[in-house]
Amino acid sequence: MSDSRNAPSTLEVALGSRSYPIHIGPGLLGDPRWLAPHLAGRQVMVVTNETVAPLYLERLRQGLGDDLDVRELVLSDGEATKTLASVERIWDALLAAGFNRRCTLIALGGGVIGDMVGFAAACYQRGVAFVQVPTTLLAQVDSSVGGKTGVNHPRGKNMIGAFWQPRAVLVDTDTLATLPPRELSAGLAEVIKYGLIRDADFLAWLEAEMEALRGLDAAALTRAIERSCALKAEIVAEDETEQGVRALLNLGHTFGHAIEAHQGYGNWLHGEAVGTGMLMAAELSRQLGWLSDAEVARTRAIIEAAGLPLAAPASMGVEDFLAIMRLDKKNLDSRLRLILLRTLGEACIHDATPPETLADLLEAFPRR
Ligand code: NAD
Ligand code: GLY
Repeated sequence: MSDSRNAPSTLEVALGSRSYPIHIGPGLLGDPRWLAPHLAGRQVMVVTNETVAPLYLERLRQGLGDDLDVRELVLSDGEATKTLASVERIWDALLAAGFNRRCTLIALGGGVIGDMVGFAAACYQRGVAFVQVPTTLLAQVDSSVGGKTGVNHPRGKNMIGAFWQPRAVLVDTDTLATLPPRELSAGLAEVIKYGLIRDADFLAWLEAEMEALRGLDAAALTRAIERSCALKAEIVAEDETEQGVRALLNLGHTFGHAIEAHQGYGNWLHGEAVGTGMLMAAELSRQLGWLSDAEVARTRAIIEAAGLPLAAPASMGVEDFLAIMRLDKKNLDSRLRLILLRTLGEACIHDATPPETLADLLEAFPRR
């Protein structure tokens, strides 16, 4: 069924023969023009979870068209399910269905489903096609684009994984209508991140439009998704496997991953932890003499306006942070690498933070 509202926009992630489109707009899910062209063959496995399935699985079926062998797998919900055991369930289902190398996996859901399905696709028979159909704001602006796939390990977030690019990303903006406000705020953290690291004009636009965004204004959300995806596509095309500039996308993540891992996966949402982590990075950038008091105040204000937490968990001491941060994938040898801000709109990779400066920041940062 075609949709008479605004025509979708299409961006490209330019990776040579592995380039793929990101389609963004309303009504994409039920429309075979968007999904069907990206299927590798007749065998299709849709993987989703128990929250998203009742909302969008039927609509997605309509978008697949006829004459396909479609199987469905509905997993449990939550960050705590982002495990190798869940990925094994996907492989079991593929093998039970007798699916071969020309099958296509479709990830219908948020970043948890997208990361797991991508990893399952990367490894099944040494790599099969997959399509991302992200249904949270966070997944639409970040996790569905760029091919980082994987699962958590009890000792660290996203520690097991692979780079494996999707065939296409389908962002149906209608799906945001059912997203709980807390999840919307978590997605806004990653949107704010793009402004902070690379685009001061976008940051200023976000400051002005935050109320509209939180009120689910369709035009504002679409613009925020388009700009975020454009910035991410640009960075991924330049540095697919994070040898350099892609690391900037991790602003706030080293602190945030420590919060997520320490608090137990799922208790803090990923975007919430990133929001607080970005404020910690901004405070540290001020201590290093880069950000002014006014710039840190602006950072705090936009994080607060997005409905994100401004304090770290009361149960986390300095050593709790440091122990987990030392395991971060960005670290080289024994040096802690952090993404910090030179100014608002410009981030840098920094591996020379004096340990006492970091410890002071971790000690002094507010707790709740
Ligand atoms: P999520 O996948 O857990 O989704 C959040 C919640 O919203 C879940 O309960 C989900 O079932 C529900 N949901 C999804 N779509 C919905 C909808 N339209 N309406 C109502 N409910 C809906 O979390 P997330 O925030 O989407 O993703 C977080 C994950 O993404 C983390 O594991 C993080 O590590 C990962 N991530 C990956 C990358 C990457 O580059 N691969 C980037 C950022 C984050
Ligand atoms: N979310 C960080 C990255 O994709 O590199």
